[in-house]
Amino acid sequence: MSPISVPSPGERDLRNRLREDTRTLHQTLESRLPLGAETPSLSAYEDHLRFLLGYFGPVEEALRDVQGLRSLVPDLGWRWKTPLLEEDLSADRADRSAPDSIVHRPANPAQALGVLYVLEGSTLGGRVLLKRLRSLPDFPGHLGIRFLSVYGDEAGAMWSRFLETLGHVEEKDWDETVGSARATFQALGDWYDVWENSRPGVTS
Ligand code: HEM
Repeated sequence: MSPISVPSPGERDLRNRLREDTRTLHQTLESRLPLGAETPSLSAYEDHLRFLLGYFGPVEEALRDVQGLRSLVPDLGWRWKTPLLEEDLSADRADRSAPDSIVHRPANPAQALGVLYVLEGSTLGGRVLLKRLRSLPDFPGHLGIRFLSVYGDEAGAMWSRFLETLGHVEEKDWDETVGSARATFQALGDWYDVWENSRPGVTS
């Protein structure tokens, strides 16, 4: 990995490529998630946490195995979401996890930063979702809000610090990072299909 590289004028830098090349996948996933509704319910919130835990669990395990990732993301240890999702659900693990065939496992640091872009970006919608949920009279009930309110006032700074790490990806590896971010959104969509159909009481 070379020092921070600056793209020539007019060339989309990696950050913009990630946002633009994943925007439709993000919108599609967001539109499918019950929590995305204007007036979500407490059960939609619980389902959202269970759905995410089922994917974040296995993919964060895979991220821990990527050699060289910690040197690129020194504060990686503060970014794990699985323990927060487990705490919010008072669960010691997911009741259902995404099958190995679905989980996109990064093979190198460039791909791992693509995966992290999606997992870290998922915290940005948290503030919007919390605002909607707080209007529910019974919120948060028996659930926690550590995942949606992760980083608290530091959310913006944590996101900017993460975006800075993208500067370490050499231009020749940008396709791997963008491809990995897209593969992660696609895997989340596939997991949602499986998750929806394997709900207790749902007969497919
Ligand atoms: C119903 C659910 C969701 C809502 C309402 C939502 C909403 C948002 C909002 C408002 C932003 C932009 C925030 C900003 O620019 O400050 C955002 C960004 C983002 N969200 Fe979501 N989101 C949802 C679900 C997800 C999920 C499940 C993931 C992935 C696990 C995800 C990944 C991302 C990423 C990667 C970004 C960063 C985009 C960028 O600026 O490059 N979102 N989301």
